[in-house]
Amino acid sequence: MHSFGYRANALLTFAVTILALMCAMASICDNLNHPTPTSQVQVLNINWFQKQPNGNDEVSMTMNISADLQSLFTWNTKQVFVFLAAEYGTPKNSLNQISLWDGIIPTKEHAKFWIHTSNKYRFIDQGSNLRGKEFNFTLHWHVMPKTGKMFADKIVMSGYRLPQEYR
Ligand SMILES: *[C@@H]1O[C@H](CO)[C@@H](O)[C@H](O)[C@H]1NC(C)=O
Ligand SMILES: *[C@@H]1O[C@H](CO)[C@@H](O)[C@H](O)[C@H]1NC(C)=O
Repeated sequence: MHSFGYRANALLTFAVTILALMCAMASICDNLNHPTPTSQVQVLNINWFQKQPNGNDEVSMTMNISADLQSLFTWNTKQVFVFLAAEYGTPKNSLNQISLWDGIIPTKEHAKFWIHTSNKYRFIDQGSNLRGKEFNFTLHWHVMPKTGKMFADKIVMSGYRLPQEYR
C-alpha cells in the first residue's frame, strides 16, 4: 500500500534525524573535551627599536614561538586559527593589544610546532610608551568545528620587558 513517495519521505526523515543526532553528539563531545594547550615564546633578538618621526615607538623583534595545541583537535575540528599578541597597559589605554603573528593550523599533526620568526605585523605603540615597558605575550586561538559553535581561548605568558633605550 505504501507508495514510493511515502517510503522515500520516511527514509529522508530518518536520515535527517540521525544527522541531527550526530551533530548534537559532536557538539556535546566537544564540550566534554578539556584541552590543555601549552605555549612558550622566547625573544631571541630586538632587531631595532626606535621612535618614528610621528612620535610613535616601533619595535621589531625575532621570536621563537612554540606551542602544543594538539589537545584542541577532536574529530569535529575543521581547523584552528591562532594569533600571538603583545599586551600592555599605558596611561591612555588600560589594555593595548598588538597582533604580531598569526596562522591557521589545518590538522592535529601540525598543531605541535615551533617557529623562528620576526613579527609579521608591525609592533607600533600609539605614543612613545615602549621603552622599558613590561608586556605579556598572549596566544589566542579560535577553534572552527565541522559542526557546532566556534570557541576561543588564550594562554597568557607574562614577564617580558622591552629595552630601556632605542637601538
Ligand atoms: C624554539 O623552541 C623550541 C621549544 O622550546 C626548541 O625546541 C627549539 O629548538 C627552539 N628553536 C630556536 C631556533 O631557538
Ligand atoms: C600580564 O598577565 C598577568 C597575569 O595574567 C597580569 O596580572 C598582568 O597584569 C599582565 N601584565 C600586563 C602588562 O598586561
